[in-house]
Amino acid sequence: MGQQPNALRGIKVTQMILRTAFLLALVIGLGGMFGWLPFTPATVDLHIASGIIVAISMAALAASIGRSRRPGAAVLWIGVLLVVVGGFMGLYLHIAGNALGLAHLALMLVAMGLAEMGAARAKKSA
Ligand code: HEM
Repeated sequence: MGQQPNALRGIKVTQMILRTAFLLALVIGLGGMFGWLPFTPATVDLHIASGIIVAISMAALAASIGRSRRPGAAVLWIGVLLVVVGGFMGLYLHIAGNALGLAHLALMLVAMGLAEMGAARAKKSA
């Protein structure tokens, strides 16, 4: 840690927040989907809040990678777009237990894959 440039350390901290929030949203979402953690107003709120943190930390990661002139920012911005589209789907359509729910999950998984790819590229170039 001590030898890294500041920008790289920032990327790692933001990525840790992103991964933690994603894991929380994923566990709550899958719990609701499979019924071992049935959706209640509280768990849905927590799911939405952690999902919004996913979007914000992904955007922060994309911005800081872009600012430090490393490669990988574009793919992260595409990930942010997918999380926002999937989030609006969840908020405004009835997605629980149908194909839209699966599409919501797939969008988030692809977005997170893109974020991991972009961050890995940026770190490799350091
Ligand atoms: C970031 C990663 C996310 C993952 C992995 C995820 C995953 C899931 C899953 C698996 C479901 C269950 C779908 C079903 O029952 O068929 C779900 C439902 C839902 N998600 Fe997400 N989601 C994420 C982010 C978000 C975001 C950003 C929002 C909104 C801003 C959101 C809003 C919702 C809503 C409203 C539901 C339906 C809850 C209900 O029916 O009461 N999710 N999500």
